[in-house]
Amino acid sequence: SGRLVIAVDGPAAAGKGTLARALADALGLPYLDTGLLYRAVGRRMLDAGLSPHEDAEPAARALQPEDLRRTDLRTPEVDRAASAVASQPAVRTALLQFQRGFGAEHGAVLDGRDIGTVIFPDARVKLFVTASTRSRAERRWKQMRGDAPVDAAGRAAAIDAVEAELLARDAADSARATAPLRPAPDAVEIDSDALDADAVLREALRIVQARL
Ligand code: C5P
Repeated sequence: SGRLVIAVDGPAAAGKGTLARALADALGLPYLDTGLLYRAVGRRMLDAGLSPHEDAEPAARALQPEDLRRTDLRTPEVDRAASAVASQPAVRTALLQFQRGFGAEHGAVLDGRDIGTVIFPDARVKLFVTASTRSRAERRWKQMRGDAPVDAAGRAAAIDAVEAELLARDAADSARATAPLRPAPDAVEIDSDALDADAVLREALRIVQARL
């Protein structure tokens, strides 16, 4: 019943965004990367010279559409700031209606941490995308590294550093009191370790078809 809402949750760099965007394309649904909301709030705090651990509710309430189009939302500093502001209940409350409104209008695919548990507990389809920490770190490192040449030792050290940051962020996101990262009881888990992006999409489409 109602609009088709698909929740795609999971830890950092598990492939949620790639899957959610492809699903939205395949199904003709709007797509919302909810992590961008928290990133944009974190960015505003940093720009204002504030610690992201200070009250970020005003920054969340002041958010504008153009904040989400900024190109500097995926730096390691913003990763940490986003996770810090995301632990504040008032920030989450400030961003709730926008997310619900986005999905309620035409249906949507949303990716994040709490879409299936808090934002859309009645979503028709809930997916929880996981992968080993190492392959998530490799994925994120490849996204970040650009074209700079790097030897094997440099590569391993760089991936170690990314892995440590991912683990710290997942630990914080999982341990927070409000809307912690966890699968909804009725979420279907997809382990993306052994699957390429096309295979993950096919698996997800099978799960969606079964629920239509
Ligand atoms: O998904 P992404 O890595 O861009 O999210 C950045 C941070 O925003 C996460 O580490 C998490 O703390 C927060 N977040 C959240 N709830 C969501 C999406 C993101 O708390 N639905």
